[in-house]
Amino acid sequence: MVSVERARRVFFLSRLVALSVAALLVSAVQAAPPHLERQGTTLRLIVNDQPMLLLGGELGNSSASSAAYMAPHWPKLKQMNLNAVFAPVSWELIEPVEGKFVWSSLDQLLKDARAHDMKLVLLWFGAWKNSMSTYVPAWVKRDQARFPRVQLPNGQSTEILSAFSTATRDADARAFAALLSRIKAVDAGQSTIVMVQVENEIGMLPVAREYGAEANRLFAEQVPAELMRRLDATRANATGLHKLWAEQGGKSAGTWTEVFGEGDAAAETFTAWHYARFVEGLVTAGKAAYPLPMYVNAALNRMGKAPGEYPSGGPLPHLLDVWKAGAPSLDLLAPDIYFPNFVELASLFRRTDNPLFIPEANNSDQPEVPANAFYAFGKLDAFGFGPFSIESIGDLKPNPLADAYAVLRQLSPAILSAQGLGRMSGFKPRVLEDETVIATPVTEDIGGYRFTVSFTDPWVPKASQRLATHGGLIVQTGPEDYLIAGQGITVTAKPLGAGPPLAGIDSAWEGTFDAQGRWVAGRALNGDQTHQGRHVRLAPGQFQIQRVRFYRYR
Ligand code: DGJ
Repeated sequence: MVSVERARRVFFLSRLVALSVAALLVSAVQAAPPHLERQGTTLRLIVNDQPMLLLGGELGNSSASSAAYMAPHWPKLKQMNLNAVFAPVSWELIEPVEGKFVWSSLDQLLKDARAHDMKLVLLWFGAWKNSMSTYVPAWVKRDQARFPRVQLPNGQSTEILSAFSTATRDADARAFAALLSRIKAVDAGQSTIVMVQVENEIGMLPVAREYGAEANRLFAEQVPAELMRRLDATRANATGLHKLWAEQGGKSAGTWTEVFGEGDAAAETFTAWHYARFVEGLVTAGKAAYPLPMYVNAALNRMGKAPGEYPSGGPLPHLLDVWKAGAPSLDLLAPDIYFPNFVELASLFRRTDNPLFIPEANNSDQPEVPANAFYAFGKLDAFGFGPFSIESIGDLKPNPLADAYAVLRQLSPAILSAQGLGRMSGFKPRVLEDETVIATPVTEDIGGYRFTVSFTDPWVPKASQRLATHGGLIVQTGPEDYLIAGQGITVTAKPLGAGPPLAGIDSAWEGTFDAQGRWVAGRALNGDQTHQGRHVRLAPGQFQIQRVRFYRYR
């Protein structure tokens, strides 16, 4: 009797183990690695087979190197409604001795992120971090013969590794591939790590190109045919480089100076091409190990500055096609935006062949950051957004970014289903490079209605309004149904096309979406709250969602 019971138990347990193993295998087999997938005019980030918006923030450079330092910050990042943290992994920490990899820093990061239900974008601080080469291991730093440095025109060397060394590229690529192999081994089933940044803010300082013997030799050679073909095929992009090329006679072949002129621009284009080729080496090695989405980030150039005064040859707006040609395996090029003219700069990186992801959307404590997030997701179909030094605002009260992310999180399903399909837009005042705020109302057609969005609130004293912090988005969810979210915006609507020419508000509700995505209605808004039906108003000071149905009349 006892033995029958025991046999039953053993049978039951072994079935259970077999079923669990089978379930694990199925789930491991089922979920493809994170990747980008086209929807309409954009690409969405797919994680565990579901589209995802990254409501993120980038850690300060040294924070992730200490688990103890990070420990009190993780719960605060969670409370701020982030679902992703952008964290450095540095070459010096993972390969302190050549060929001997130490994964403790990565493993700890992964453990902490998982414990807080957070996705990670890893930033590979390899050969270059902000132009310089200070994150390379000591065995690289100390071997100048094997890993040559950039030479300036006077022959002086710098603490920047040359992009013209195959030894450097191969060593960097080996470490990068080892990192991707490790990610595959420890994270393939879960996809905590959703994307990898290759290097950080690449670009040559303080001159436009390198002046070592190999750099000089290659600079005297012909512009590669691949680059010429790309420029020819992308004339419609009309970047600064296309314009320069045309001004120099639009030649189909020639040396760098013949094609791009005698100035710094030729040197910068040459630099961009060779940085892109170097990066392509890393990306192909990394993707062969585990094909996560990969990108490079740009330290943007200030207007009126020469290449070398800003990091020359990075993935800058005027050089996007050079990078696309030189590093075709990269998934996207991403801007770090610290300048005030966010609307203009972010727009330059949103192209059909380049979805928008902003890894450093200014410093986290800047007051316009939350409105910029609404603009990036609503207007430019961004799949991710993160201000820098995110852990530094964990104790901020009130915390407008936390409030904005709470709303964007609730809206994520609606945003994701509208991305790239023209059913959504984002709104905020334009700010110029000199910080002038242009708060004139903006008009956009979405579905069957033309919306005009004003940024100056009609009911709050003008002097107390910080217009650059006002902004929001509108997403269409049905023929006459819209979600309108943000703060400090007032919205009016007009019908488009044939039919009764006037629009009224059928109903307007404030509310929230619960964790299951169900709408939980608050007040029915009417009377003073809609100015007796004249407009939809999202008052300044509090990010919120309204669910509005319009109708037409004559
Ligand atoms: C831009 C860099 O990419 C970051 O790593 C950091 O150094 C910030 N600048 C500091 O403002």
